[in-house]
Amino acid sequence: MQKILNVALAKRSYPITIGENLLGEFQHFKLQAGQRVLIATNETIAPLYLQTLIDMLEKHGVKTESVVVPDGEQYKTMETWNTILSALLAHNHTRSSILIALGGGVIGDVAGFAASAYQRGIKFIQVPTTLLSQVDSSVGGKTAINHPLGKNMIGAFYQPQSVVIDLNCLKTLPQRELSAGLAEVIKYGIILDTVFFNWLEQHIEDLLNLDVNALSYCIYHCCELKAKVVAADETEQGMRAILNLGHTYGHAIEAQLGYGNWLHGEAVSVGMLMAAQTAKLLGKLTQADIERIKNLLIRAKLPVNRPTTMPIESYLPHMLRDKKVLSGQLRLVVPTKIGHAEVMDGIDKNIVLESIANV
Ligand code: NAD
Ligand code: GLY
Repeated sequence: MQKILNVALAKRSYPITIGENLLGEFQHFKLQAGQRVLIATNETIAPLYLQTLIDMLEKHGVKTESVVVPDGEQYKTMETWNTILSALLAHNHTRSSILIALGGGVIGDVAGFAASAYQRGIKFIQVPTTLLSQVDSSVGGKTAINHPLGKNMIGAFYQPQSVVIDLNCLKTLPQRELSAGLAEVIKYGIILDTVFFNWLEQHIEDLLNLDVNALSYCIYHCCELKAKVVAADETEQGMRAILNLGHTYGHAIEAQLGYGNWLHGEAVSVGMLMAAQTAKLLGKLTQADIERIKNLLIRAKLPVNRPTTMPIESYLPHMLRDKKVLSGQLRLVVPTKIGHAEVMDGIDKNIVLESIANV
């Protein structure tokens, strides 16, 4: 069964379609015969899904080319961005061409940013193939590349024309990547939805076992929660920042240890526990809620202890480069109970250091 959700952004509104075997179903892509498409994907995903997608598009009269880039967070760079732009140019793509991102969050972010820049912006379509990209990165229009000095520091807000989520793609996803996606799933429960957090406590093993009904409900619900936040605050002037729970701490881990060593979702898992410790030290969160969060992360097979090779003092320089920093002051998202989070300014440095030490 297919589910369709709308991201309500006036002229930039778009559908998210969730279901099985969608790579074979033309109508969800919002394309027309005669259009030209470049598919950007990576070396891991290409042998799995690229030909299926090309065959389906060509069958419907869409002229399709592809560009295959190296796999990994360490390739979410200016060079990869340039490779995609060069492929668009080499094939003489025009303003009416469409870029399709086929892959996880790395491909989605870098290809989306390339689409935003090519001839000052061409249409693009997200076809997310990891759980993380299906519940989070393909929705909402954040696109970016990393810089050695900071994660996602160069990019654009640029919305896709459609998002096509094929649940079948998850069957080839390594378990560690599935768990990384569950970190963002659990994040939604913590920041926005107590009932959903309770549901996850009942169904986390069903998700790990790729139960289609559980996955379909979960992905739809996460996209629904994210779509509401994005519709209210597309460019993160306010409440959208709560979607970054655990990310300020987590991005420090990713940047310090080298992009790709800790997966984004793994760093977010530990980062959410650090943010929970911050909330507790500020008297805003109970130990009982921290235990519930930690237990769910453990059951999702995610790390719950900070990396031992990373000194506590090394977090702060990274955290001060975070995009939420205002006038040199740290801003952190902290959970105040399961189902609710706040953005807090001016948190004392010693509280931050103690929060890290406690995880
Ligand atoms: P990823 O894109 O690196 O994919 C993870 C791994 O799984 C890669 O090796 C990939 O090749 C492989 N893979 C993808 N689909 C597969 C499939 N179906 N079968 C087998 N292997 C498959 O990582 P990710 O976790 O999807 O995304 C993480 C990135 O997303 C980070 O760069 C993060 O910053 C970004 N992100 C962006 C947003 C946003 O709003 N734009 C939100 C959250 C995260
Ligand atoms: N992943 C955070 C956001 O989309 O805002």
